[in-house]
Amino acid sequence: MGKLALLAIISSLLLLNSSLGTAAEETSPEQRLAEGEKRFEAYCGTCHSLDLPKSQRLDRANWEWVMDDMITQYGATWLTAEDQQLIIDYLVSAYGPDSESRAARPGAASRLDGR
Ligand code: HEC
Repeated sequence: MGKLALLAIISSLLLLNSSLGTAAEETSPEQRLAEGEKRFEAYCGTCHSLDLPKSQRLDRANWEWVMDDMITQYGATWLTAEDQQLIIDYLVSAYGPDSESRAARPGAASRLDGR
């Protein structure tokens, strides 16, 4: 890859990062995940148990779809764009398709059993 192409990629990543908003700036990936976890626990258990999302293992596209549903179908319209971004990043990391080993999966197991 040429230096120019690399530079273009880096600068677009920087642009993307700065467009995420003030609180997300100047934080490490670990801090962003911790912030995502905090907002997940604060916001995603207000209408139903946190076990509902915690029992799922989804990829980014499907977590985005769930997030969209919560907002457009169920009225969680008070979630800011930054909340959504941080929570989705956290969900993909902690409850992504290959995160089985990181948590017990009681919900997923009972879904498979049809119970
Ligand atoms: C405004 C209320 C509300 C909020 C806030 C909310 N949900 Fe939901 N959610 C619902 C309702 C209603 C359902 C469907 C009924 C049920 O199963 O309880 C649901 C269902 C779900 C499901 C099951 C699959 C589905 O699509 O039906 C998941 C996963 C989920 N929510 C995740 C989340 C996550 C992650 C958040 C935080 C970003 C969140 N919810 C915040 C209302 C909400």
